[in-house]
Amino acid sequence: MSATPIELVEVGPRDGLQNEVKTIATETKIELVNSLSRCGFRRIETGSFVSPRWVPQMAGSGDVFKRISRHQDIQYSALVPNLIGLEKAIEAGVDEIAIFVSVSEGFSRANLNASIGESLDTISAVIRRARDHDLRTRGYLSCVVACPYDGVTDPKSVAELAKNLISLGCEEISLGDTIGAGTPLTVGRMLEAVLKILPPSQIAGHFHDTGGSAMANILAAIDYGVRMFDTSIAGLGGCPFAPGASGNAATENVHAALSSAGWNTGLDENELQWAARQAKKMVKNSLEK
Ligand code: HMG
Ligand code: MG
Repeated sequence: MSATPIELVEVGPRDGLQNEVKTIATETKIELVNSLSRCGFRRIETGSFVSPRWVPQMAGSGDVFKRISRHQDIQYSALVPNLIGLEKAIEAGVDEIAIFVSVSEGFSRANLNASIGESLDTISAVIRRARDHDLRTRGYLSCVVACPYDGVTDPKSVAELAKNLISLGCEEISLGDTIGAGTPLTVGRMLEAVLKILPPSQIAGHFHDTGGSAMANILAAIDYGVRMFDTSIAGLGGCPFAPGASGNAATENVHAALSSAGWNTGLDENELQWAARQAKKMVKNSLEK
């Protein structure tokens, strides 16, 4: 009997690299995405079309999208905060967009310069316009366990906002533990609330590893029926507006742990190791500059 599938969505080129302080050359980013494209992912979050003043590292995303060697089986997606970003994403030829909303007002203000209500108005226009272009929209919810500004998040608020995003037209919701504060207990409580409203098939887990519990949180979410997780090659990253947050769970480690537990990620071990070495070298080089 073949192992049960679990999908890992690679977010390293976006969530991983957005936090790098020193500039990473577009060519280097393209090489990373090309290596990741050989690993067997169905989806790679390749960049973001946000304000270059807010996140300078993502400024070259248009060039990255235009120059990567695309595999026809892979959806190359981008994060988009507003209609300006959507137009740039369409022009760059993205396959899918991701919008992002915070469950907490403090992080919403810090990350988007808008209240939650204002950002919902913006993204509902973005989703409508994306549909006109036959683009699928993924929805991110940030601070689903805790916020660096407002403290502990109420699981009911996560569930309500998740429902709201689905009704606006998001096809799935990625639940972001932005600052990696979650534990299997708190993540479980949050999932129990969300799963009263959405089926596990519409949910992805997005666990940053600040507290060292990302893998344990993935395993806890699997027990709740979640089968899709965002991971970042070599554990790159964090968010510039979430002080102290570290990267997502490292893709190659999650792949290894899940494979040994009998799950099938569909990823190629050797190619993952190659991409992880490349990612580590990129970040090391950028630190040394
Ligand atoms: P603002 O300063 O309020 O923007 O920022 P504005 O609408 O007032 O516009 C100011 C200027 O920015 C204007 O230019 C606009 O044209 C320009 P000017 O007239 O001054 O020359 N502008 C843009 N330029 C390029 N692309 C755009 C864009 N929009 C406006 N899309 C804004 C508001 C939303 C733009 C800003 O706050 C922003 O870009 N925020 C994004 C922050 C970000 O990328 N954070 C990290 C990603 S989220 C994350 O990591 C969490 C996640 O991983 C899940 C988890 O872990 O929880 C997804
Ligand atoms: Mg993140």
